[in-house]
Formats: sequence, C-alpha cells, structure tokens
Amino acid sequence: MNKKWWKESVVYQIYPISFMDSNGDGKGDLRGIMSKLDYLKDLGVDMLWICPIYKSPNHDNGYDISDYCAIMDEFGTMEDFDLLLKEAHLRGMKIMMDLVLNHTSDEHPWFIESKASKDNPKRDYFIWRKGKNGGPPNNWESYFSGSVWQYDESTDEYYLHLYSKHQPDLNWENQKVIDSMHEMVEWWLKKGVDGFRFDAIAHIVKAVGLPDGANPLKLPTVQAYDLFSNLENVHTLLKNLYDRVLFHYDIMTVGETSGLGPEQALSYVGDTRNELNMVFQFEHMFLDARSTGTGKWDVVPWNLLDLKKIISHWQIVMHEQGWNANYLCNHDQPRSVSRFGDDQEYRVESAKMLATFLHMLEGTPYIYQGEEIGMTNIAFQSIDDYRDVETLNFYEQSMQRGIPEEKIMQALWHKSRDNARTPMQWSNTEEAGFTTMGGEPWIRVNSNYPLINVEAAVKDPNSIYHYYRKLIALRKQHEVIVYGLYELLLPLDEEIYAYTRTLEDQQLLVILNFFGKEAEFKLPEGIQVDTKGLLISNYPVKSGEDISTFTLRPYESRVYLTTIQS
Ligand code: GLC
Ligand code: CA
Repeated sequence: MNKKWWKESVVYQIYPISFMDSNGDGKGDLRGIMSKLDYLKDLGVDMLWICPIYKSPNHDNGYDISDYCAIMDEFGTMEDFDLLLKEAHLRGMKIMMDLVLNHTSDEHPWFIESKASKDNPKRDYFIWRKGKNGGPPNNWESYFSGSVWQYDESTDEYYLHLYSKHQPDLNWENQKVIDSMHEMVEWWLKKGVDGFRFDAIAHIVKAVGLPDGANPLKLPTVQAYDLFSNLENVHTLLKNLYDRVLFHYDIMTVGETSGLGPEQALSYVGDTRNELNMVFQFEHMFLDARSTGTGKWDVVPWNLLDLKKIISHWQIVMHEQGWNANYLCNHDQPRSVSRFGDDQEYRVESAKMLATFLHMLEGTPYIYQGEEIGMTNIAFQSIDDYRDVETLNFYEQSMQRGIPEEKIMQALWHKSRDNARTPMQWSNTEEAGFTTMGGEPWIRVNSNYPLINVEAAVKDPNSIYHYYRKLIALRKQHEVIVYGLYELLLPLDEEIYAYTRTLEDQQLLVILNFFGKEAEFKLPEGIQVDTKGLLISNYPVKSGEDISTFTLRPYESRVYLTTIQS
C-alpha cells in the first residue's frame, strides 16, 4: 500500500466566475473566494481546485489564456492571488491551479506574432497548414462544433483549434514551446501552489501528418478523436515535464483525459510511470449519450448495470497500480443530482446517496461547487440566457441544420455546461447572495435559491451539506475508506449498487438504492456485517437492525464498518 497525502485528500472545485462576487460587477472573483475560505474549511476539504484565473479575453471563461503569469482583470490582481494562497495555507488547505497547455487564447502575444507572417519566429508555435482542394487541411471536427481549422486570409493558411477558434492549439513539437511551458509551470510552483489540473492534456499531440478521419458518410467534418487523443508522444512530453520540473515538488497532479479506459490510463498514472498522479476519465459521463464526442447532446437513458461495469472496471484496474480521480459533476457537466438522482421529490435523499457512492470508492473524491448543497440543473426558456460557447455553437449549428428548436432546448436542459455554471447559491437574499451592491450576475441565478442555499443548509443538521461534512470527516478517521480493496456485490441487481472495501481486518459494506422506489436487499452469503457499525446513512436506521434481508427506501444509502473475524 503506497500511502500519499493526495490519496487521503478531498478536492473542492471552484469555478471562479460563478462562485462569489465581492465587488458587485456580477462576476465572481478572488476576493470572493477568499471570503468563503472559512466555509470551505468547515466543510473539511483539503484541496481547492480553482478553474483558470489567468489573463483571458474569456471566450471560454478563462480556458483561453492570453498571459499565463497574470491574473484576469475581472478576478483581481496577483496580490489578491498571493493573499488567497496564503490564507488557504493558513487554514490548512492547498490550492491546485488549472493549467491549459493544449492551447492559448488568440490574443496571446505568441499567437498575434504567429499570425503576423509566415516567417515570424513564432509562426511555428502554433499549427498552421495550407488548405486542401479549396477547403481546410483535413476533416476533423472541433469539440465545439464545425471544423478544427480557421482560415487566415492575410497568410492564406489555416490554424488548428480543437476547441473554439479563439483557442489556437500550441505546437508541442516545437522545443521553444516546451521550454516556455516548463518555465511557466515552475514559476507557479515557486509561488507555492500545491498542484495542477492539466486541462485537455490528452490532446497536446496530434497524429503525424494530420490525416483525415474515417468518413464513410462523406460529411464535411467528422469526430476524429483518436487522431488527437492519448497518443504515445503525450507520455514522452509528460515524463519530460515530470523529470525536469514536477519531480522537485511535493504536489498533486490530475490530467483531463477523455477517450480512454483504465488499462490505458495506467500509462499516465501507473506508479512507475512518473507522469501524473491521477486522471479524469469520461466513460461514465457518456452513459446517457449516444457515443463519444459531440454525441453528448443525444440524450439517452442510462442504466445502473452500465455504471457498475464502468466504475468497477476502473476500481479494479487502478487498485495498487494507479489511482482514481472520482467525480460525478464538474464545470463541463450537468448537475449530478439532476442527472443521476432526482432533483425534485427525493433531491435530498438522492444527493446524499450519490455522495456516499462517490466518497466510499477508492480514489480521490472531487466535489464541484454547489454539489454539497444539492444544486440542480437549470432550464432557461430562451437561448439568450445561455452563455457557454459550446452551447451557443451547438445551438447555432443545429438551427442551421433545421433541427426543431424545442429539440435543441431539450438537449441544452440536459447537457449544457451552463447547468453547472449558474451562480453559487449562498443565501435566500437577492441573487442568492452571490453578488453585492445590487450587481447583476453574468448568468442568471437558478430560481430555486430560496429553497437551496448554503445558509439554509448550514442551519439544518439533516442537510446534504452536513452529510458531506460527515463523509469527509469519516475519510480522515478510517483508512479503509482511502485504501480498501473494492469488490462489487450483487452485480446483476438493476436497482441496488452494493460493494465492499477491505483493508486488513476492516471492511466497509456500502449499500445504495439508486432509484426512487423501494428495493429488496439480500445480503450475499459469506459477507460479515456488524450491524452496530453503521457509519453513515441518509435515513434513520436502528442500530443493530438485522440486514440479512430488508427493504431499502427510495435512494437509501448505508455504510457499515465491520471488523472481520477469521
Ligand atoms: C476542458 C475544460 C473545458 C474547456 C476545454 C478547453 O475540457 O474543462 O471547460 O472548455 O478544456 O480548454
Ligand atoms: Ca467581481
């Protein structure tokens, strides 16, 4: 058992623009985060992952960086950041930066130079190609709809952007790009930051020759993700970054890597790889979608057996060799309670059940802001209320293709990234207490804030918030929660997800009803349970109650801890 502090930690993700506004301009900022550090400390989390705060024209809320070593004007100053870091450290919390190495902003000075002329020394910092047959160099489709290529008239060439056209991809085959990036990473480490989330890191290498993706239907663009995801040279680059820079610091790293399974993930996080500590995988994020890629918008019902299959696979392969980053929500995904639970009648019960599920798995749990109070999806009636570039591009393209607007809006209500980006609901006062001095939030507040807000949750001992506090505290008390071996029980049960976690003679039994109706539980043979060892549950349970067969209430979850007698 390879013990590490980052395995024992709980991460809380902050999406700064939507977290807390301190100066009434309707946008969250660093001083706003600072004002909530005590709240985060009370929750018990160890690490704050802060989504990008660098200088940016904000076409993709900071994921388009124009200066890696400066703070976005709207968010504050470098002095604010230094103070935030210091104040977090004073409270025993660490800070993880979100770094975008795959692309910059089209307003980054490198890109401005690169675009200026074909013989500019920075031309090769980005990926420029000549057009083919009067069109773009290849048929790859962008994550944000349309071609990955943007034509530039003045030099008569195209540049590549896997995301929006304001996010040109860097050329990682250029040693100067590599050196500058290493230097920049080190600059932040010297400031004392405690980790990085490497955005879109799976995509920094593209297939040699940038070949067309398979296109049997002769579409203008195709999802060619395997031509720019998880290619072998990504590992060479990451190992190099580790050896030259990361190795010298005791930090936590997590990479965003879509499109892989656990065996392949080991090549990033395997104990002997020296690349990253863990990666965000996406398999369970496509449970309710047609396929990978922009197929995310084609919503299909998900089922529990698929979830079990995916999660169990990751749990088993990562044990002892790697490490999981466990999440159900983030700034790119719908709200977990709306997606996998019930955000109406059983909102509280189902949010607690999902939290139990996540926190009892092996791996580092990630909480996304507002998840700890059960914030829900939003269904704006008009496209004018949406802000996200991916959402707006999808809407526009779908309208052009003649898809009925109702159908598009349905897709947005399920999957738009704005579901997770409405302002954090702090109180039942105007604008949910997110902004001050009559400010108008950059995106509308969810109208359910009078019911769902931090102030109410903190006051109510039975709230989702207090349940999270308890889960986090339990992790600090019982090593088996961190390091125990996962074993799935009842693999074919379509309603109940049950598993054990075992470390030496300590065993957790986790029982979760994933749906809003009662379900019959039958304890599998050979499983010992100390029914007095109930660690947590989301309904009242009598201590010592026999559980060899019993009826689980809607979304009921229980965790028992047993000392195994051999
Ligand atoms: C990652 C981020 C997402 C962003 C994209 C481009 O997927 O999580 O928010 O839009 O990268 O940087
Ligand atoms: Ca502000």
